[in-house]
Amino acid sequence: MRHLIDPLDLNLAETGRLLDLAEEIMNRQGEFAHCCQGKILASLFFEPSTRTRLSFESAMLRLGGQTLGFAGAQSSSAAKGESVADTIRMISCYADIAAMRHFKEGAPFVAARYGKIPVINAGDGGHQHPTQTLTDLFTIRRCRGGVDGLTIGLCGDLKFGRTVHSLIKSLVRYRNVRFVFISPEELRVPGYILKEVVEPSGHPWQEARRMEEVMPQLDVLYMTRVQRERFFNEEDYVRLKDSYILTPEKLGAGKGELAVLHPLPRVNEIDQRVDQDPRALYFEQARGGVFVRMALILSLLGLAPGVLEEREWQGA
Ligand code: CP
Repeated sequence: MRHLIDPLDLNLAETGRLLDLAEEIMNRQGEFAHCCQGKILASLFFEPSTRTRLSFESAMLRLGGQTLGFAGAQSSSAAKGESVADTIRMISCYADIAAMRHFKEGAPFVAARYGKIPVINAGDGGHQHPTQTLTDLFTIRRCRGGVDGLTIGLCGDLKFGRTVHSLIKSLVRYRNVRFVFISPEELRVPGYILKEVVEPSGHPWQEARRMEEVMPQLDVLYMTRVQRERFFNEEDYVRLKDSYILTPEKLGAGKGELAVLHPLPRVNEIDQRVDQDPRALYFEQARGGVFVRMALILSLLGLAPGVLEEREWQGA
């Protein structure tokens, strides 16, 4: 049985085949409408979500399956003190596959250890968000034809932003990628990611404090929200929340084929006037998340032969 807890749980070839399948599903949705008939997805969301939860549920429904679950820790027995291990033991009796979002880093990893069904990490604290990464790669591939050779700017809360952490982990596996990390000093990429992921990759990287300085170099600009819920005090959040606001004027210095991405939700960091720019791809990016999650559900349930290699999950 395979799980997706960390982006590295899929190797590069598996990631490529899964994104190919997502593309196929997007182009020929009708052919996949009954693939999961009789199957149930449990959506276990201990933290708020719009896109991830509803796109997982939409994905399973579009595959002909069904869903059950909860959208908040308070409506599950976690509120009475039940452990993640016991929760997933129960869910394994009710569903065939589970997507879990949790405020505690590592909770989906524990679920994968104790459950009897494939578990997908739908975001754990400030740690990882591998299905967002698959969605990001899907969008980059579609608009730029591939990932190799791109200069990728990541801007905003690079400390707490789990989507950034997962994306960096995946991007280092592509050839000739260059990173530009744009953040305030307090929200820099965590040292362990620089030391254990970016530096060993040998890919060039730089840090910048102002997006205007680096805008002309970028092929992809990945904007992120300052993660209010991860701050220890409100004062720091208020001071840092508007560190970066992308406006049409700032975007004016970008390349004509620049791709502006954002995992969403956005707060203030992208001026709504930017939405009209053809380089603003974040809503299209969110749409792609449904096809990516359809491909992932099919693959983890063993209904898409040839996508995943036959090996047991070890935990990346
Ligand atoms: N991108 C993302 O994780 O959005 P949600 O928090 O709405 O799921």
